[in-house]
Order: sequence, then structure tokens, then C-alpha cells
Amino acid sequence: MIAELSNPSVFMRDPQRVEDILKAMQKAGSNTIQVISDFDMTLTRFAYNGKRCPTCHNILDNSKLISEECKLKLQELLDTYYPIEIDSSRSIEEKLPLMVEWWTRAHELLVQQKIKKDMMATAVRESDAMLREGYQLFFDRLNEHSIPLLIFSAGIGDVLEEVIRQEKVFHPNVKVVSNYMDFDETGVLRAFKGELIHIYNKREGALLNTDHFQALRARHNVLLLGDSLGDLTMADGVQDMENILKIGFLNDKVEERKQSYLNSYDIVLVKDETLDVANSIVLHLTGSK
Ligand code: TMP
Ligand code: MG
Repeated sequence: MIAELSNPSVFMRDPQRVEDILKAMQKAGSNTIQVISDFDMTLTRFAYNGKRCPTCHNILDNSKLISEECKLKLQELLDTYYPIEIDSSRSIEEKLPLMVEWWTRAHELLVQQKIKKDMMATAVRESDAMLREGYQLFFDRLNEHSIPLLIFSAGIGDVLEEVIRQEKVFHPNVKVVSNYMDFDETGVLRAFKGELIHIYNKREGALLNTDHFQALRARHNVLLLGDSLGDLTMADGVQDMENILKIGFLNDKVEERKQSYLNSYDIVLVKDETLDVANSIVLHLTGSK
């Protein structure tokens, strides 16, 4: 039905089910669709020319805004906790307190650096952040068809907004739920606002955003994009859901994690740095090839 679903990077537990969901969603029409996407390593690239691309946190960690001493500490945290994040032998219950520890310690270190709000744009501009290939089509097409895009990120809202602003795709249909920085009256970072969003509490985050989902309650069909098993709960706040199609990027530790991704995501994209499959689905649902 969609040629891109035969790409070598595409794996599906049940292709017939994918086809049935797509048929139902296409029949219902593009005004019944909402898109919910993770940001880091889902809308952004995992690697480029063999080199890892940064997450929102890494954009700051690698910038001039952070002292050399603090960079080492943040690197130590990454070396300790990232292997836990992607360890398929540990349960989510086991990982959860360790992820809270990672986020808490990283945010404490960032706050100690007295980061200035007016330096954020430069830090992003000078970073290696890269959205996945095909991002313009993805953002522009959703906007042209007034399909709401919720970017739901355990990264840093101020950083991710700046990334999409600099790429000229921060359109009016985009809403961001993330960790936002709290700057004092002189524009210096003093804390993070609100409830912490980490990789395994997106369900709780979703349930706090009832107003957003209430406003979109006529949009019963959801396209969900993520790269971690924690991203599967991003749609838990959606009201009156009829169909959901879950697309998961499997970027790292492929063999160990493939089965669990196939069990939870309808479409698994293995080491695929593009948004081609998502774009072909969006084109299909918005009525054009
Ligand atoms: P998300 O993609 O689910 O929104 O999660 C954010 C990513 O940020 C997650 O893959 C871990 C990563 N991260 C860092 O790279 N550095 C950090 O200091 C922290 C706390 C998270
Ligand atoms: Mg992610």
C-alpha cells in the first residue's frame, strides 16, 4: 500500500494490522489525526557520518556555556546512565529511579553553571544538532493540513524550541511539552520549571496536559513516533482514541532490543536516519502520494 514500508530498515510484527490501521485512519480523514512525537533521537538524528549526534542536554553539555570541569562530570553521568537507559536486561521499574537520578544530577550541574538565556541560540547554532532527513516535509506538511504535532520530550524545551526555530519549522501547529528552564530577572538559569519529565514518566506528563488533549478530542486517530519504550505512553492522555499507529526508531543495541520493539511498536525502523516512512504515511493520510 505504501512503498516505503518495504524499505530494508522497516520491520513489522503484523503488517496486516498496520495496513488495517492505515486504512481506517485514511478513511476517517486528516482532520481526525493528531501526531505525538518524542524529540531526541526521534525527530533528531542518532548519528551522522558515523558520529553520534547530540541530545538537547548534550547540546548544552558540549557548548561554551559549560566549564571544562562540569563537562567532565556530565560526561561521567552520560557514561554511567546511558548504558542503563538502553539495557534490555533491566526492567523499566528497575531503571526508573536511576533515570530520575540522572536527570536530577544533570539538572543540578546545569543550574550551577549560571547559563544565560541570551546565549542559548548561539549554543544551538554552534552545535552538531541535526533533525532527521526529510524533516522539512514532515513539519511543513502537518502544518499545511493543520494537523497538530505534540513534541513530548524529556529533553530541554528551551533548547528544542531553538533547534526547530533555527530550522524554520516551529509552525503554529506545534506544541511542546518538555522540561523548561527557569531564568531569574537577570536572565540567568536558576532552576527547571514544573514537574520533571524523564524518559519513563511521560504517561504522568501526558495526564497533566488534559486541556491540550481535551481541545483535540475530535482527533481520534494518533500517529506516535518514539525511540524508547518510555515513549509508548505519550498518548495516554488522548481522549476517545480510535486508532493509534506507533512508529519506533531502533537506533542502538539493535539485536538485543529488536524483539521488545517489535512487540510494542507497530513499525520498527532499524538504524534509519530519515523521516521517509513517517512522511510517506503522512502523505498517504493527507491524500496524496
Ligand atoms: P527523550 O528522547 O525520551 O525525550 O529523552 C531524552 C534523552 O536525553 C534520553 O535519551 C537521555 C538523554 N539525556 C542526555 O543525553 N543527557 C542528560 O543529561 C539527560 C538527563 C538525558
Ligand atoms: Mg528520544
